[in-house]
Amino acid sequence: MNCYITGATIKALREKQRLTQSQLAERLYISDKTVSKWETGKGFPDISLLEPLANALKISLPELLSGQQIINANRSANIMETKLYVCPICGNVLRATGSAMVSCCGITLPALEAEQEDDDHRLICERSEDEYYVTLTHAMTKEHSISFIAYCTQERFEFVKLYPEGNAKARFFSRGHGRLYWYCNHHGLFMKKI
Ligand SMILES: [Fe+2]
Repeated sequence: MNCYITGATIKALREKQRLTQSQLAERLYISDKTVSKWETGKGFPDISLLEPLANALKISLPELLSGQQIINANRSANIMETKLYVCPICGNVLRATGSAMVSCCGITLPALEAEQEDDDHRLICERSEDEYYVTLTHAMTKEHSISFIAYCTQERFEFVKLYPEGNAKARFFSRGHGRLYWYCNHHGLFMKKI
């Protein structure tokens, strides 16, 4: 969280819920003048009001504070729409089948955006009869390494954890076309269709 909740956020969320300033004020046991002050930047909600305010605006507290509402558009839980989140503090890897509000170690994590491979993060995928053999020639030191490789198809998401000083390689039973993901702790997430 970089800043406290803004008036523009409160106004936009209130209007989305089709609430007047008075209706919102009533739910929080405050005056409509107070709501007006918040929305015009002449005052901030007291910290004790943040949770009731989030409830009234039908949004989670982290979303309210970030000013960004997360809406999952992937209602059918299509695995190909998987979002990955990595905590920069503890290395926790989280996966969701759509957009979600994810936090770890006290920070809200953005969904990782996968990049196309580059010369330093080139993945080689060899297919034998019934498996994919995936390798990378990338540093695998404690400071800089590939921390996982994953294979995603319509039915399954397979995740292989890698360790520093180990090899950056994985084997997957071939289940046809899908996506390969790999994550470098310094350079982020990469993706390639296979
Ligand atoms: Fe890297």
